[in-house]
Amino acid sequence: MRKAARAGFWDRIAGRYAAKPIKDPAAYEAMLADAAGRLRPTDRVLEIGCGTGSTAIRLAPHVAEWTAIDFSPEMLRIARTKAASAKEAPKNLRFVLADAHGAFDGGPFDGAPFDAICAFQVLHLVDDLPGTLERIRAGLKPGGMLITKTWCFAEMKLRLRALFLVLRTIGLFPPVNALTKAALREKIRDAGFEIVEERVFGTNPNGPYIVARRPGP
Ligand SMILES: C[S@@+](CC[C@H](N)C(=O)[O-])C[C@H]1O[C@@H](n2cnc3c(N)ncnc32)[C@H](O)[C@@H]1O
Repeated sequence: MRKAARAGFWDRIAGRYAAKPIKDPAAYEAMLADAAGRLRPTDRVLEIGCGTGSTAIRLAPHVAEWTAIDFSPEMLRIARTKAASAKEAPKNLRFVLADAHGAFDGGPFDGAPFDAICAFQVLHLVDDLPGTLERIRAGLKPGGMLITKTWCFAEMKLRLRALFLVLRTIGLFPPVNALTKAALREKIRDAGFEIVEERVFGTNPNGPYIVARRPGP
């Protein structure tokens, strides 16, 4: 699928995505607490596929700079509005229109190397996962952290996968990489990371939260 079409899907559903309540608020809060605990006040962080910015708004106050990218202009419009009206709008947060694939290849921002890169619910959506992971590693300082949550569709129940297939056929679901958890771990390791943590927040075992480290001092 062409980039414009892929981003167009998210533009179309951005309003609905923003209005959808968080399914498991306790699990989301626990994940945020874990991620915040790994970040330092001096860190410069990149978030890929930030969507409507909720996570960026919550985590930016824990670090020095938070750059949140997404390739959907409509997702970013909502994210900027949300950040501007947040009770304590983080001043160190910027939203940038950029594709994860080209983000490190002379993209519209020059922030690398970062102390941490976050990718929540997005790695299953990128076209070239090995290439994206390699660019992420190259965009991190040695010792820098990749903090992720990724849907592993290949391990979901058959009826759920069938439902997603039908929804995809009628344009209500995006194309996804149907990964197993083992394949996801392997791709992360193949890109040169060491996995330092894997956990599930909440009850769905197929959306693992994985923290990986670029080896180095
Ligand atoms: C499922 S949403 C997740 C949003 C947010 N991270 C969250 O956890 O709620 C996926 C987001 O990734 C963005 N996205 C998908 N592929 C992308 C790519 N190649 N480059 C940049 N953003 C991408 C979509 O526009 C969408 O906002």
